[in-house]
Amino acid sequence: MELITLQTKNTTYQMGVNEMGFLMHLYYGPRAEGDMSFLLDVRDRGFAGNPYDAGLDRAFSPDVVPLEYPCYGNGDFRSPAFNIRDSRGVFGTDLRFKSFDMKEGKYSIPGLPAVYADRKEAYTAEILLEDERLCVEVLLRYGVLPAEDVITRSVAVRNKGRETVYLNKVFSACLDFPGGRYDLLHFYGRHMMERMLERGPLNHGKQQFGSRRGTSSHQHNPFFILADEETTEDYGACYGMAFLYSGNFSFEAEKDQHDQTRIQMGLADEMFDYPLAPGEEFYSPETALAYTSDGFAALSHIYHDLVREHICRGKYKNAARPVLINNWEATYLDFTGDKIIGIARQAAELGLDMFVLDDGWFGKRDTDNSGLGDWTVNEKKLGGSLKRISDAVNGLGMKFGLWIEPEMVNEDSELYREHPDWAFVIPGKRPVRCRNQLVLDFSRKEVVDHIFSSISEVIDSANVEYIKMDMNRSICDVFTAVEGYQNYGKTMHEYVLGVYDFLERLHGRYPDLLIEGCSGGGGRFDMGMLYYTPQIWCSDGTDAIDRIRVQHGTSFAYPPCTVGAHVSAVPNHQTGRSVDLKTRGVVAMAGSFGYELDLSLLSDEEKEEVREQVRTYKKYEHLLINGDYYRLHTPGKDTEAAAWAFVSKDKTEALVSIVSLDSHGNEPTTYIRIRGLRGDGMYRCDETGETYSGAVLMHSGYPMPVVPGEYKAWQMHFTIS
Ligand code: GLA
Repeated sequence: MELITLQTKNTTYQMGVNEMGFLMHLYYGPRAEGDMSFLLDVRDRGFAGNPYDAGLDRAFSPDVVPLEYPCYGNGDFRSPAFNIRDSRGVFGTDLRFKSFDMKEGKYSIPGLPAVYADRKEAYTAEILLEDERLCVEVLLRYGVLPAEDVITRSVAVRNKGRETVYLNKVFSACLDFPGGRYDLLHFYGRHMMERMLERGPLNHGKQQFGSRRGTSSHQHNPFFILADEETTEDYGACYGMAFLYSGNFSFEAEKDQHDQTRIQMGLADEMFDYPLAPGEEFYSPETALAYTSDGFAALSHIYHDLVREHICRGKYKNAARPVLINNWEATYLDFTGDKIIGIARQAAELGLDMFVLDDGWFGKRDTDNSGLGDWTVNEKKLGGSLKRISDAVNGLGMKFGLWIEPEMVNEDSELYREHPDWAFVIPGKRPVRCRNQLVLDFSRKEVVDHIFSSISEVIDSANVEYIKMDMNRSICDVFTAVEGYQNYGKTMHEYVLGVYDFLERLHGRYPDLLIEGCSGGGGRFDMGMLYYTPQIWCSDGTDAIDRIRVQHGTSFAYPPCTVGAHVSAVPNHQTGRSVDLKTRGVVAMAGSFGYELDLSLLSDEEKEEVREQVRTYKKYEHLLINGDYYRLHTPGKDTEAAAWAFVSKDKTEALVSIVSLDSHGNEPTTYIRIRGLRGDGMYRCDETGETYSGAVLMHSGYPMPVVPGEYKAWQMHFTIS
C-alpha cells in the first residue's frame, strides 16, 4: 500500500492507497511513525459493495474501510463527501487515486478566505483523484502547519470532459474513525444568545447541523469538536473542525453499522446544484483540522493561535484595538449631529479612543423600514457633513468609525426604486421580508461595484478609521434577475463570494481600516469573516450575565480579541436585568472592549469607575491580544460562578476574572481552580498583596469571596515572583 503521511509537531495524519486506487484514511492522532495500515480490518461483510476490479474477492468494500474522500456510487453507502449529477440526471461517481505531490508553502484559494503562512512555516500536499466516466478531476489539498498542529483541507474540482456536470455535494473535509465512542460538542443558539455549548454522545445514525440562512448563522456555528467521552478541559483526546466560510454549511456526524464514525463538513449540499461546464474549475472553502490529546483548553489554544497568526490580517492583527463608544443602544435611530458629538465628548473625557456612529446616518433612515441601499450622508439629520462629525471627534483626540450594511436594501429607498431587479425576489412569489428589508444580489458584480463605490465615497469624505459591517437578515428568495441566467443552484455560494469580494476591496483600498464584522450581533461569527475582519460584534445580547455564556461558547474556537464586547446600560435593554457597572466591565473586558450607552447619564462616581475600567483594560490588554485564554468555571454548570483567565505565554502573568451567578444564605465556599500557571512558581496577587503557590492555585484553587448580592465580580492579577 502506498502511504501518504503528514506530520505536525504533535500529530500524524496518514492515508493509504490500495492497488485499486482507493484512497483510505488510516490515522489521525498523536504523533507516530510507521505504517498504520494494520488498522484496516478488511474482510467479507454482508451487503457491502465490492469494486468490480476486485474480481470475485469480496474482502474489500468501500462501505467498511475508512475513506479519505468518500463519494456516492462506489459501494460506500454511508453519507458521501462528494456527489455529482451528470447531464442526464445520473448519480454515480467512482473517485480513484491518480497522483500525489508535496510543495513548500501553504496553498491559497481564489476568491475565498484561507489560512496563510510563510513559505517555511507550512507545506502543501496535493492528492489528485479522478472519475473516469465523468472525466472529472478532484484535487484534495492539505495545508500543513507543523508548529501550529493544524492541517487544513480544501478541494478543487475540474471538469475535463465535454459535458456540463452538476456538483451536488463537495465537502471540504471528511474524517473516518475506525470505531470509537465519541462525544460531539457543538454550538447552537439564536439571535442574542449565540454559540451555546451542547455536548452529547454520538449515537447510531446521522446527525446533521448547518445553516440554510445564507450566513453561517446564529443558530449553528461552523465549528465542531469530536472528543473521547472522558475528555475535559485539561485531559483527553479531541478533534476540532472549523469551516472558513460565512454562508450555508453542513456538518455531518455519522456512526455506522460497524460502530465506525465519520465526521465531515463543507458547503451545504441542500439546494446546491453547481453546474461545472467543460474546462471549468470549482474551489471548495477550507476546513481547518486540529487534534490534541491534552483536552479542550489545548484545542482552543491551537485555534486561537491559528486565528491570530494565520487568519486575521492587517494592521490590527496583533495590535491593541481602540476602546470604543458606540451610540446604538444610547440613541438607536434617533439622534442629531450635536447629540452624537455630545456622546463623543463625554467618551473622550473618560479616556475612550474611538466613537462609532451606528445605523441611521444615511438616506432616509429614521425608522428601520427605509433607507438601506442609499449610502449618502443624511446631512440634514447630522446638521452638516460627515466630515464635520469626524473632525469634531478627531478634535477630541478620538478616532471616528461608521456602521454600514452593504448587502441590504429597503423597498423604500432610491436604490430599490431605481434597481428593483438587484434585490433577491422570485418572479411570481411575494418575497419574505425580514426587519422589513430585502437582500441585494451580491452574486452580481455590478451590484457590488455600485455599493462599493457609494460606500467608499462616504469613507473618503471623512476621516473614517473603523467600519462596522452589519448584515441583518437571513436569506431566501434567491434569484438572479439576469436575462437567460439559469444557474440558481450556485447563486447562494456566489453571493458569499461577492461579500468576500466587497471585503477584499475594502482591505485593498483602506489597508489601515479596522473592520468589525456583525450580523445582528454574532450571526456571522466564523473564521471566514475573521480573514477580513479581525473582530466581530459577538452578540446583540449585551446583558453581562447572558454574555458570559455567549462568550464561553465562543471561546472554544475563537480568541477573545476577536470578540467585540461592550458595557451597556441597566436595566439591560434585552433582559431588563440590572448588574453592577463593575461586573459589566469585567465581562466586557473578556473581549475587544467598548461601551454602548449614553455615558452622560452616569453619575460622577460611575464616570470615575469608567475611567478606571479603561485604564485597567489597557493595562492588561496585552494578555488579551497575545496570551492564552482558559475557561475556569463553566457558567451554570460547575458551580454558581463563572470564571476565566488570561495567562501570558511565558506563564509569568495572569488575569483571573470571576463573576458570582447566584447567592445563598450560609453559602458554601467556591474554589476557583486556576489553569495554565507554573506549578513551581510563586505568584503575587496585586489585589490581595499576598503570594501564592502556582501549584496550589491550580490544584485547590482560590476561595471566591462571599459578598452579599448577586452577580458580583472580581479581577485578580497575578505575577510570578
Ligand atoms: C444590528 C447590530 C446592532 C446595531 C443594529 C443597527 O442589530 O447587531 O449592533 O448595529 O443592527 O440597526
